[in-house]
Amino acid sequence: MDLLIETVDGYSLTLSQTGLSSGIGGVAWDCGLVLSRLLLVPEFTDRIRAAVMARAVPQPGSESFSSMTALELGSGTGLVGMQLAMLGCKSILTDLPGVIPQLAVNLAQNAHMLDNCSVVADVYVWGQPPPLHHFPVHLLVMSDCLYQFEYVELLSDSLRDIFCKEGQSPLILHAYEDRNPDV
Ligand SMILES: C[S@@+](CC[C@H](N)C(=O)[O-])C[C@H]1O[C@@H](n2cnc3c(N)ncnc32)[C@H](O)[C@@H]1O
Repeated sequence: MDLLIETVDGYSLTLSQTGLSSGIGGVAWDCGLVLSRLLLVPEFTDRIRAAVMARAVPQPGSESFSSMTALELGSGTGLVGMQLAMLGCKSILTDLPGVIPQLAVNLAQNAHMLDNCSVVADVYVWGQPPPLHHFPVHLLVMSDCLYQFEYVELLSDSLRDIFCKEGQSPLILHAYEDRNPDV
């Protein structure tokens, strides 16, 4: 089922969902819906920009989103990454290989909204070597990626790998739904 999601200046993004039969990323999850909505609130985005600038390294060229690279893990439908691209970030949407076709469809069908934006979809499997060709990263984004205990270690490995790269100190923007006390 397609979803129409409000975005900047009253426009909408169309999100195709392939469904759970094609994996957990085949639908838009509440965390992503909430985070994408928050990204429309200037007070929230002002705080993100200021927090990125307050980090030691790597400093983007200016406080504008257009000087910042956002790497999203587990993008699913790509909603959050597309919102960040429309705010001006260079936005890298990543997920498992099986989710990339859905991301490609969503980027293509919203191309008219992403005309002047820098946004790509790429494979990144947690625990594997990070996609260094997209570095430096200023904002590391996750929405609903901590949903199962067995992924905690994999995600921790990814965060360690990203932060261990020399000069990397991205701000983490993490939307999390508290469902499982073990997580
Ligand atoms: C609960 S969904 C959240 C999707 C999206 N962020 C949202 O809020 O709608 C979790 C996402 O993490 C991705 N994912 C799960 N395990 C992964 C792994 N080992 N490596 C990379 N991505 C993974 C899934 O494919 C899925 O897109």
